[in-house]
Amino acid sequence: MIQKIKLSEKIYWIGVNDRHTHLFENFWPLPYGVSYNSYLIDDEKVALIDTVEVSFMSEYLQKIKSILGDRTIDYLVVNHMEPDHSGSIQALLQAYPDLKIIGNCKTAPMLEGFYKVVKNVVTISEGDSVSLGEHMLNFYMIPMVHWPESMVTYESSKNILFSNDAFGSFGTLDGGVFDNEINFSFYEDEMRRYYANIVGKYGTQVQKALEKLGTLEIKTIAPSHGPIWRDHISKIIALYDQWSKYEGEEGVVIIYGTLYGHTAQMADIIARSIAEEGIKNIRTYDASKTHSSYLLNDIWKYKGVIIGSSSYNGGIFTPVSSFLKQLLGIMPKNKLLAIFGSMSWGGGAVRALEPFAQDIKWNVVTPAVEVKHAANDDDQEALISLGKAMAKALKENV
Ligand code: FEO
Repeated sequence: MIQKIKLSEKIYWIGVNDRHTHLFENFWPLPYGVSYNSYLIDDEKVALIDTVEVSFMSEYLQKIKSILGDRTIDYLVVNHMEPDHSGSIQALLQAYPDLKIIGNCKTAPMLEGFYKVVKNVVTISEGDSVSLGEHMLNFYMIPMVHWPESMVTYESSKNILFSNDAFGSFGTLDGGVFDNEINFSFYEDEMRRYYANIVGKYGTQVQKALEKLGTLEIKTIAPSHGPIWRDHISKIIALYDQWSKYEGEEGVVIIYGTLYGHTAQMADIIARSIAEEGIKNIRTYDASKTHSSYLLNDIWKYKGVIIGSSSYNGGIFTPVSSFLKQLLGIMPKNKLLAIFGSMSWGGGAVRALEPFAQDIKWNVVTPAVEVKHAANDDDQEALISLGKAMAKALKENV
């Protein structure tokens, strides 16, 4: 027997939990896994909303058949072509060859390009509707949340927004599927990490999507990953608004690269001086150890960022320089930045951090501190002053 999980009388969650993949998009760690959510609407016409990652096709088909038996599927709505959702399309077409695929004008060339699918593609536009009988599907474009063809589907009889990647979260659904069945704070953290890692670059587009979707009456948000939201809708919309405006809490993330520990000691001195000023949210990370997924999560959470590096080959130590390159690709906004570094025996790190401080366009707390060999008493005073200056800036700006 397969347990049936219903959003309403005729709408089912038929997603799957992925606990074996180590890296999402072959890059972002999945310590708590991820769910691929798909939904089935069992009306006069039967519709699926998105599919699942292809390796789960067998489990997915069993779930479909446990509801439909031998009946067929009329429509597959493709809200998003990234293969974590579209990966099962070819296999689904083998099982249901007459299936019509609903997408927009940017979906169609991707269907052909990725999967050679050209038959039975129904192209819809912004505001178009498809009736299933009792249920009505309405389509709205949300480009770049997270790919150009991204769209959402709004079911207007039950006020359910199938929101695609928006409001999605890392973390499998471990029994609890709806937000009244889960520990909210766990998923809030994993939702922010998902946002920062996957959607974070597109804050402007998220703001446009929020404005557009704000006109709809929404009772349920059913995303493509993570819990289905009903009780916390205003909270998660407020979080998305905050994250897409890059509004951080009072707190600071300190990220350093060190070979033998001198730069780590400098980071600890700065962190202690910030704590002495009453700032309670301070997270300090060694960039050689902690994956950028978590560094980005905390950059999204907090207003302050402090970057430190030992000098290496006359510049920034590789784990830090590689993270900064990634950060410049994403370009989060609206942060406070301070920099420090160790010259070791040669120097170059702080000199190389200064162009980053200009390029990232954040407000810079000065003066930067550069230490030769290990920090002496004067250096320690300078590091304490830098920490105090960051704490003051945080209090004035959050
Ligand atoms: Fe969950 Fe952008 O795919």
